[in-house]
Amino acid sequence: MRLILLGAPGAGKGTQAQFICEAFGIPQISTGDMLRAAVKAGTELGMKAKEIMNAGGLVSDDIIIGLVKDRISQPDCAKGFLFDGFPRTIPQADAMKEAGVKLDHVVEIAVDDEEIVQRMSGRRVHPASGRTYHLVYNPPKVAGKDDVTGEDLIQREDDNEATVRHRLAVYHDQTAPLVEYYQAWAKQDAAQAPVYSHIKGVGSVEDIRAQVMKALGA
Ligand code: AP5
Ligand code: ZN
Repeated sequence: MRLILLGAPGAGKGTQAQFICEAFGIPQISTGDMLRAAVKAGTELGMKAKEIMNAGGLVSDDIIIGLVKDRISQPDCAKGFLFDGFPRTIPQADAMKEAGVKLDHVVEIAVDDEEIVQRMSGRRVHPASGRTYHLVYNPPKVAGKDDVTGEDLIQREDDNEATVRHRLAVYHDQTAPLVEYYQAWAKQDAAQAPVYSHIKGVGSVEDIRAQVMKALGA
C-alpha cells in the first residue's frame, strides 16, 4: 500500500497516519517530522529549515524531493509507505510522477480553517516519535506524558495562532491545488492514477479513523 494523506495543517494527518501505518504495516513518511529531527540534530538541512518552519513557510522543493527519494529507496519502504505532509506543491507531486512512483490512494482529510485554529492551541507532541495528542480531544493517559515512553510532551514552535494562520494561507495557495491535480488525474487515467477519497475530517478521531479505513478497504 502506497498512499498520500492530504490535508491542511492540523487536519489530523499525523493522528490518522498512526492508525493506517499500524493496520498496513508500513512506515509513515512525515516530511515535517524528518525536518524537525534535522533541526534538533543541528544538521546543515536543519539549519536551513529551522527559520522557514518556525515562520510557517515551505522548505524548497529540491531539498524535500531529495529527502523523500532517498527515504523511499530504503528497505523498509519496499512493502509500501504513507506520505504525511508530502507532496505539498505541484512540483513535488510531479517529481513523484516523473520518478515512476506508483501510488494506490490519495486520502484527503478536509477541515475548515477556524476549526483548525481552535485545535492547534491544544496540540501536544512526543518529539522523538511524532505521536500527537490534544489536551481535550485526544488526551494522553497521564497529563503531559507520552503514552508509550512516558517521556515529556511538548508544544510545537509553529503552533501559535499567527503562524497557524500563515500556514493555512500557504496551504490554500500552494497545496490545495493538489486536490484538483489528483482528482483530474483519477478521471483521466484511472489505471495509473491513485484512487481519490475525500473525507470530512470533523467528528471524533475514532469516527474519522473508521471512514479512512473504509475508504482504504481495511
Ligand atoms: P508538518 O509537520 O507536515 O505540519 P502540517 O502539515 O502543518 O501538519 P500538522 O502536523 O500541523 O497537522 P496534522 O494534519 O498532522 O494534524 P495532527 O494529526 O497533528 O510540516 C511542518 C513544516 O515543515 C511546514 O510548515 C513546512 O515548513 C515544513 N514542511 C513539511 N513538509 C514539507 C514539504 N513537503 N514541503 C515543504 N515544506 C515542508 O492533528 C492536529 C491536532 O488536532 C492534534 O492536537 C490532534 O490531537 C487533534 N485532532 C486530530 N484529529 C482530531 C479530531 N477528529 N477532532 C479533534 N481534534 C483532532
Ligand atoms: Zn503532522
